Amino acid sequence: MKIIGTGSVLPKQIVTNDMLSEFLDTSDAWIYPRTGIKHRHVISDEKLEDMAIEAAKKALDDAGMKAEDLDFIICSNVVNEYITPSLSCIIQGGTGAACPCIDINCACAGFIYALDFAEAQYRAGRVQNVLIVCAEEPTRMTSWKDRNVCVLFGDGAGAAVLTAGDNIKGIKLSAASSTEKLYQIRKLEPTPYITKEEVDIPLQMKGQDVFKFAVKASSGDIQYLLDKLGMTPDQVDKYLLHQANIRIINSIREHLGQPEEKFPTNVETHGNSSSASCPILLDECNRKGILKRGDTLALSAFGAGFISGAAIMEW
Ligand code: UT7
Repeated sequence: MKIIGTGSVLPKQIVTNDMLSEFLDTSDAWIYPRTGIKHRHVISDEKLEDMAIEAAKKALDDAGMKAEDLDFIICSNVVNEYITPSLSCIIQGGTGAACPCIDINCACAGFIYALDFAEAQYRAGRVQNVLIVCAEEPTRMTSWKDRNVCVLFGDGAGAAVLTAGDNIKGIKLSAASSTEKLYQIRKLEPTPYITKEEVDIPLQMKGQDVFKFAVKASSGDIQYLLDKLGMTPDQVDKYLLHQANIRIINSIREHLGQPEEKFPTNVETHGNSSSASCPILLDECNRKGILKRGDTLALSAFGAGFISGAAIMEW
């Protein structure tokens, strides 16, 4: 397939590091050097489904495509207010599409997994036009009393429209189950028969373990694809990586031996918006004219599971 349109939406509330230090034992002096984050956008009165629909409409506009021409909608989401119906079904109604839709939860790697699903459906001859929307509100998963976790995240929605083409050169998906390193548990409705103890636990993270996994998985996935395609890292024009931490991005960059200008970032102003991070960055680069037609892009993301993935495509 090929990507022919992108869109993104951020919530309006900006929370700076200094604002966090008003109610948390933290500071810009700790957060910025360790993460590269200056501020993040946090949902206040917005609904995630509205942001997802708006991002989808922007991507459709950019693609010059009508919603009724879509053959499939894939939504990547970890958490939103609806347990059911699926966010993709809400997006279908909100955009006026009439196609089947599915939600996936691959944590921060969701955009890469969605690309792979779209490409597989296309190669099977089942679809021509696919909308991917990644919509996330990780700020609703963390305890805002836990400085280890809440300072890292921001909310947002990013979307991409794909159509027939052979621009996707390769996708590598990986998973390495390690469920105690990054997880959240929610309590379900009780029944008269539940005898086990159940608890609500906000997002927990072993930061240094996630950091090590991220660098290894991301550089490994990208290198695997480059080798498979007979390419060198130099032949990639832009690396669009999951925006979790500038130090993670820099470590991956050093592994690949590539210059900083090939790695556009927005972690400084957005924080980590889970699976929305890659398509938001893609949209911003697209709209700012940072991507040139024919450029080779490498996308890569990693997250809870652990799950990771990378894609190499022509823009
Ligand atoms: O999509 C994937 C999601 N997650 C990630 O990508 C996270 C990956 N990991 C990281 O980005 C980094 O590990 C962190 C930014 C989370 C932490 O950086 P670090 O250099 O690994 O710091 P650390 O874990 O060594 O923490 C050092 C200290 C600890 O204090 P003690 O025990 O050494 O006294 C923490 O309690 O920093 C403390 N600390 C904080 N201090 C001020 C942790 N969070 C904060 C904070 N403000 N927000």
